Amino acid sequence: MHERWFKQAVIYCLDVETFQDSNGDGVGDLPGLISRLDYLARLGVTCLWLNPIHPGPNRDDGYDVADFYGVDPRLGTLGDFAELVHQAGNRGLRVVIDLVVNHTSDEHPWFRSARADPASPYRDWYVWSTDEPSDRRQGMVFPGFQKETWTFNEEAGAWYYHRFYDFQPDLNMANPQVRAEVRKIMGFWLQLGVSGFRMDAAPFIIELTRPSEPEARKEFDFLREFREHLSWRQGDAVILAEANAERDELVEYFGTGDRLPMLFNFLLNQRQLLAMARGDAGPIVSALEAAPTIPESCQWATFLRNHDEVDLGRLSERERADCFAAFGPEPNMQLYGRGIRRRLAPMLGGDRRRIEMAYSLQCTLPGTPVLRYGEEIGMGDDLKLKERDAIRTPMQWSGGANAGFSTAPAKQLHRPVISGGDFGHETVNVEAQRRDPDSLLAWMERMLHTLCECPDFGIGTCTPLDTGDPAVLALRYEAPGGTMLTLHNLSAKRRTVDVGPQPDQEGDPVEVFADHRYDPPTPDLAGVDLAGYGYRWLRLRETPGR
Ligand code: NOJ
Repeated sequence: MHERWFKQAVIYCLDVETFQDSNGDGVGDLPGLISRLDYLARLGVTCLWLNPIHPGPNRDDGYDVADFYGVDPRLGTLGDFAELVHQAGNRGLRVVIDLVVNHTSDEHPWFRSARADPASPYRDWYVWSTDEPSDRRQGMVFPGFQKETWTFNEEAGAWYYHRFYDFQPDLNMANPQVRAEVRKIMGFWLQLGVSGFRMDAAPFIIELTRPSEPEARKEFDFLREFREHLSWRQGDAVILAEANAERDELVEYFGTGDRLPMLFNFLLNQRQLLAMARGDAGPIVSALEAAPTIPESCQWATFLRNHDEVDLGRLSERERADCFAAFGPEPNMQLYGRGIRRRLAPMLGGDRRRIEMAYSLQCTLPGTPVLRYGEEIGMGDDLKLKERDAIRTPMQWSGGANAGFSTAPAKQLHRPVISGGDFGHETVNVEAQRRDPDSLLAWMERMLHTLCECPDFGIGTCTPLDTGDPAVLALRYEAPGGTMLTLHNLSAKRRTVDVGPQPDQEGDPVEVFADHRYDPPTPDLAGVDLAGYGYRWLRLRETPGR
């Protein structure tokens, strides 16, 4: 079980269109990404997750697909994609892509055909109602920007269902032909060499939606069907699903290990932010203690920021208010009434100690870390841009024109580069941080390289320990190859804690990573020091030949 690659991976999410432009048209592209693979390999990530790369109107940043078997011509060609997978493989990097099959663009030929003719073979590929559904204004994912979930289409003379924006009609997954098509899409991209998929909107894919029935039943076995196909075609391929669901439902997504192998841990994400907002480890401890046991073949994915808003929707109102107050106090920083549309570095006031502590913690929490491009240099956001675009600005490679992202005239860029202020590309960029051994980038490389030497976090059993100090989180990881202990101080003040000798220690504890050089801890782990926002990773036991 432990040799599953995705349990010891570091996943790096990027949007090709904002990463590196190679032909000067203002849009990032696949050849541009290929030219940056050495950078990514050196950084220490092991798998790239590409946000949607398919053709489409791009009204939801690519999550509105008009052709599942192609590459958006602005980004390159299928040939460029195959080349990317090959070149990434040469550097030991895997590639996974977004699988956006809950819906299509309303410009997809299937939907055009479906709405034009009730006898179309694609009519039943979507979800229709001839009468106005009574729940038409319920269940919106983007409140404030989306008015309804059922929209009347003149041409079709019927209402169609869309969980997201009205230009994203939901596919009817209950139709076996649609599921067969999803399997074909997966097969196609596996054939081109991807290592798997990030499944968009998993809870809605399995929803059996009917008009005027807001509480739709979920058919979890669709997931088994997709998984079976995936594993038959490529045994070690992964599906990493976006399922922001309640704790008790989450286990259903994993099944007995026969459904989805990997889920983003949205609950832990929200608890980590709450813990950081309050300077109190409690929310993380309770989340870890309450976490459902998952099948041994499965894995969580941890993240701090992704390409969407920080979704705090599963916190209580009070908890959410604390997070807003700490990280996004202005109305313009908040989104959809539940989230924050900022990048992490500005959320933490650019405080290097807090940023390091946050990533050290994320990367050692149970699961596989997923990072978003630009986090490694502490990029900021542009709140002048609409909705989630604020955190989707071009990668800042240098302090030069267009941050080295593109040679196009600035006004031709797909999105503006962040300029000026604490997070402008003149200050925050790869080139400058590359030259500075004390930069965040240099730190991130060291941290990720150390992480690769500590598979115990990815595969071990994690137990919270009582330190007697609510600001300090102490976790012990037991894995076949060894035992690790991590300590994170969530507060700004220096702390000293007693962890107590641990059951399976062997020899003196060895510090493998920390915010600065501390005195070696004593074998009884008493009086362990932590600076404000300090962190320490200690090896307690190592079994050679693991
Ligand atoms: C979830 C994606 O993360 C988000 O960016 C997108 O808008 C919706 N799904 C719709 O595909």
